[in-house]
Amino acid sequence: MKPNVRPQAPYFSSGPCAKRPGWSVSALSDALVGRSHRAKPGKARLLDAIERTRSILGVPADYKIGIVPASDTGAVEMALWSLLGERGLDILAWESFGQGWVTDVVKQLKLPDVRKLEANYGSIPDLSAVDFARDVVFTWNGTTSGVRVPNGDWIADDRAGLTICDATSAAFAMDLPWDKLDVVTFSWQKVMGGEAAHGMLILSPSAVARLESYTPPWPMPKIFRMTKGGKLNAGIFVGETINTPSMLCVEDYLDALKWGESVGGLKGLIARSEANLGVIAEWVENSPWADFLAETAEIRSNTSVCLKVSDPWFETLGDEDKAAIAKKIAGTLEAEGVAYDIGGYRDAPPGIRIWAGATVEKDDLKALLPWLDWAYGEVKSTFAKAS
Ligand SMILES: Cc1ncc(COP(=O)(O)O)c(C=O)c1O
Repeated sequence: MKPNVRPQAPYFSSGPCAKRPGWSVSALSDALVGRSHRAKPGKARLLDAIERTRSILGVPADYKIGIVPASDTGAVEMALWSLLGERGLDILAWESFGQGWVTDVVKQLKLPDVRKLEANYGSIPDLSAVDFARDVVFTWNGTTSGVRVPNGDWIADDRAGLTICDATSAAFAMDLPWDKLDVVTFSWQKVMGGEAAHGMLILSPSAVARLESYTPPWPMPKIFRMTKGGKLNAGIFVGETINTPSMLCVEDYLDALKWGESVGGLKGLIARSEANLGVIAEWVENSPWADFLAETAEIRSNTSVCLKVSDPWFETLGDEDKAAIAKKIAGTLEAEGVAYDIGGYRDAPPGIRIWAGATVEKDDLKALLPWLDWAYGEVKSTFAKAS
């Protein structure tokens, strides 16, 4: 039966993600447009974004927080290019974005001493095999497989290398143990539903010490440069950005942070994502056709929830048909105005991906789930008739 209740906000994309509840363009009416970001009020807004980020995420006072160009990718690559090469590297990858960082260090930086710890979609590499005498690069939450690290317990306290963590779909939704993390990056358009453009780069004192004691052998583009004359360019970390930021995006991020504070800060934001995951988990438990792609509950993402089709009929199909069916489910729901952008990532196994971050309302997820059952039934019967 076709359901008759639709989600009020059918926005379940994994990035850019849903705006916060109640958002409208009027949230940007006080944006500092037409002014220099280097004028006093411009710098004050940028510093406010940094300090509210620190306060909500509980970033230690001696960690540096910078707003940098090119979204999360910019922040990660700035870190990789600036810090790596001083020692060997262990790099972990279990989905597309982690694999992208492997490509960077192997094919672009051509680091000579890299150990790749990899796993297939749905699982995670053996975390006990990581050697913390080396630098370590990993993604906290693999957005395209819906698999996250369970916690930070596997990370050594007394490490000699640096831990560099891409946390773009984890920050504001999962507990990040700052004492275990030397570099953390994320972008604004994920859990907080901000606008894409800028990346956040957070550095521990050890990461800063590396920057000030080590100069990589390769050329460093201006937008990656974090030091001047061997010293940290401290201005970057108080809002003196390397190049021009969008003050509209800054205003929107400030709006998102203020909303985050209003729902209870980090605890409240995590609780919202967890509750959203709970709604989906309850449905999956009773579903005859859908299951989590993540193999176990402890590595299951509470933001980018990836589902596979577990119907035995589906298993008998070839890869092309499987992909076509998954695409059709997403397309059918989009055409109904029920769910936008829930097709699985292009490199992931065929399935659907539902964003469950804090800006998504639990009731909208509840309304969506019967539509998934309906769409699967429709697509299956159409497909079975045609073949
Ligand atoms: C884990 C992860 N890393 C990196 C990126 C790239 O982020 P951006 O588009 O903000 O550069 C994404 C985007 O979805 C992601 O999920």
